[in-house]
Amino acid sequence: QTPVPTDPYRPVYHFTAPKNWINDANGLVYSNGQYHLFYQYNPQSAQPGHLSWGHATSPDLLRWSHLPVALTEYPGPEGSNIMIFSGSAVVDRDNTSGLFAAGKTDGLVAFYTGHQEKPGLVMAQHQNLATSQDGGRTWQRYAGNPVLDIGSKEFRDPKVFWYAPQQKWVMATVKADRQQVYFYESKDLKKWDFMSRWGRAGNTVREWECPDLFELPVPGGGTRWVLLISAGNPTEQFRGQQYFLGRFDGKTFTPDQAYEEPAYVDFGKDYFAGVTFNNAPNNRRLLVGWTNDWAYARDVPTGDEWRGNFAVPRELSLRQTSAGLALVQQPIAELRTLGKEALSLKNQTIKPGATGLPVTFRGESYDLELTLKPGTATAIALNVLESEAERTTLRYDVARQELTLDRTQSGNVSFHPMFASSLETARVPLQNGLLKLRVLVDKSVVEVFAQDGETTLTDLVFPRQHTGRISLRAEGGPVQLTQLRLTNLSQPTP
Ligand code: FRU
Repeated sequence: QTPVPTDPYRPVYHFTAPKNWINDANGLVYSNGQYHLFYQYNPQSAQPGHLSWGHATSPDLLRWSHLPVALTEYPGPEGSNIMIFSGSAVVDRDNTSGLFAAGKTDGLVAFYTGHQEKPGLVMAQHQNLATSQDGGRTWQRYAGNPVLDIGSKEFRDPKVFWYAPQQKWVMATVKADRQQVYFYESKDLKKWDFMSRWGRAGNTVREWECPDLFELPVPGGGTRWVLLISAGNPTEQFRGQQYFLGRFDGKTFTPDQAYEEPAYVDFGKDYFAGVTFNNAPNNRRLLVGWTNDWAYARDVPTGDEWRGNFAVPRELSLRQTSAGLALVQQPIAELRTLGKEALSLKNQTIKPGATGLPVTFRGESYDLELTLKPGTATAIALNVLESEAERTTLRYDVARQELTLDRTQSGNVSFHPMFASSLETARVPLQNGLLKLRVLVDKSVVEVFAQDGETTLTDLVFPRQHTGRISLRAEGGPVQLTQLRLTNLSQPTP
């Protein structure tokens, strides 16, 4: 069951299923000391097919126990052929649903989209529930399903959460083809009433998927609600996920920013369908995204054994930035409990033109933290997973204050025409003249966190040469490497 560390592309500290296909994270909920991660899963193969919910649990979001498939209708009852599409899960602490024994405080209720099709033809998408009486081990689909059906073929991804001020449950779903989020309310998790909808077709070429809505504190006082929507635009830029900050009064979402000007969760090509945990301890807001893009997800060259993985869970907060109030994402603090320090440097000067470092590092899974002072330099180029012919490059353009993640030379990029087609660029202003980068490299995944999580870029890469080499170049002037810390994460998580 343990992932094989010698697999050239299977990440070591990023979540993968023991085998087969995965896409979105589903049913994220914390209960009785365990984080439950369900996920879109094809029990049959490493390609999408009859989707079900796979299941794993962890006390720390890093050490996972793999459990049997939680929800499936494969092979479905004659003629039904319902796939279990994406959704969420809640702890029904007060047994509002009446589906648990009196006094039971840890009943789990999952919400999923029932996706019904005849080969090649979608028949219906509706919202369904399932309960677990045993802490998530086994699940029973509710006899009264579907609990919400509006006669649509594009109605999915229910995110249910408790809205304390009005002592009720709220569900956010998408009418995917209209690019709208629909909000419903319920007292008992079974009967759902429409409240409002928000959005309008036009700010992406793609359907809206996997909504999430949650409240975060604003530093200095007050709160804002964050609406996440997965809606990439593979024709121009891949940015898979948008977010809007705004207010939510229990019925209606009112954004601060114009609909046409979404903010982006991640500026790489491969961060999609990210949703957050319900019920996480200490009011933590934890995001798990699928590091992939539907444009080529089926084609990524990881072999027939497994396909798909999740980003390291990210802890979310709000911060005042030079661009205004923004969502900040940091890898979970638990990540620092893994690995061994491999290198630590302070106050080095990288001369222009010369290659600084290089660190010949024999591991392809690491956590690299750098603080750089560009001074009079015009650009900085950081290569990871570098060999003679291959490299994944993070380039900072000092004048434009732009950070670009370039995987065009990263290795195998030819398995799909969209894979290497463009560079990913984000505006990253220097702070007190400094650029802070944290780069999580894990064989085929590169996650970049700039300026303490104000900007992230996530990409898949498939190097042919398996080397962990890292190098740093300064252009146009010397660059001060104020600090560097490299943590080796190549050993499987104990
Ligand atoms: C997003 C998505 C969801 C859907 C699921 C199906 O990646 O398309 O909208 O529920 O995947 O696997």
